[in-house]
Amino acid sequence: MDTKGIMAAVTVNSLISTYTHTSTLSSFNRSPTRLFTPTPTVSSFHPKFHLRLRASSSFSISSTALIDANTTDSIEVEKEAIESSSNLLACPVCYDSLTWTSDPGFSVDAIPGSSLQCSTCRKTYAGNQTHLDLTTTGGAKTYGEPMPASTEIFRLPLVSFLYERGWRQSFSVWGGFPGPEKEFELMKDFLKPVLGGNIIDASCGSGLFSRLFSKSGLFSLVVALDYSENMLQQCYEFIQQEESFPKENFVLVRADISRLPFLSNSVDAVHAGAALHCWPSPLAAVAEVSRVLQPGGVFVATTYIVDGPFTFVPFLSTLRQNISQVSGSYVFLSERELEDLCRACGLVGFKCIRNGLFVMISATKPI
Ligand SMILES: C[S@@+](CC[C@H](N)C(=O)[O-])C[C@H]1O[C@@H](n2cnc3c(N)ncnc32)[C@H](O)[C@@H]1O
Repeated sequence: MDTKGIMAAVTVNSLISTYTHTSTLSSFNRSPTRLFTPTPTVSSFHPKFHLRLRASSSFSISSTALIDANTTDSIEVEKEAIESSSNLLACPVCYDSLTWTSDPGFSVDAIPGSSLQCSTCRKTYAGNQTHLDLTTTGGAKTYGEPMPASTEIFRLPLVSFLYERGWRQSFSVWGGFPGPEKEFELMKDFLKPVLGGNIIDASCGSGLFSRLFSKSGLFSLVVALDYSENMLQQCYEFIQQEESFPKENFVLVRADISRLPFLSNSVDAVHAGAALHCWPSPLAAVAEVSRVLQPGGVFVATTYIVDGPFTFVPFLSTLRQNISQVSGSYVFLSERELEDLCRACGLVGFKCIRNGLFVMISATKPI
């Protein structure tokens, strides 16, 4: 890494840590003070993957915000470790390893007709046209449990269809979400230590980030995971529409965030975009994330925090409880709450970036 590159990395990292606990980036400054325009060359070695990363980046940083990140990375991942990636799937019933009973299906096109079996309970899991169903109810014929509304709503075909056709874009209007491309650029800083490893896009929805992860070439394996079969269907269709989408080492998985179908200590990175507040139990979910992450693995997530002027709303905690009981949606009221959640689940090094109600958090499994 040349001097400019080192300065860029240090400045970005220190900026992010400055905002740990106390950061409230009131807005993403649109006319930033341009302090530098680095073109760093980064060489990084993931413990499992030999990774060569060339980054040509253009960051704009002001004293108040990480504003405009426009990064293009080209990466060469020596895929000798892909084999170990294929060992990460686990039975959601007993968490023991799953073995392919057909050819390993770590490709979008290999999923139809593929099947896996648990080495302990012998339950089998099959792939359908679009995804592998690794829910505990997968394969059940008559039994099924309804989830809270905040999960069920995304299973509706219409909601899944509309998600990338206006629904997600509305988060920028009311919630300060910077939008997928910019969010991806922001999270790349958090993900730097695990580039070249595998990544789970948990609650991927229609896969807007999963697709970016895959096309970036920054990860050796991308698992797009969601509970909604219709969201996965949308993701599958978007992929089919793209002529040169890299379908190898990309797999769509249906699973419940509270029962992740991965071996403990097997995952390098978990991303969860705009999903923490939709999960039936953020605590159970983040505990699962922590279980599957390897030591040094990174969790990065976005959600919103109802604070600032909302703090003065009377009985806010009671209101939050009522919303949660009716919809299953968990409304976060402070950064400290999110940090506490991560810490309670054994994750350390909490960092966050704010923009209005929007927050991006990151925490790491201790080494
Ligand atoms: C608001 S969308 C976020 C989609 C995408 N990650 C993004 O950044 O736009 C929330 C997603 O969480 C998923 N979800 C809700 N409950 C879930 C659960 N129990 N397990 C897995 N995914 C769940 C929904 O199906 C939905 O796709």
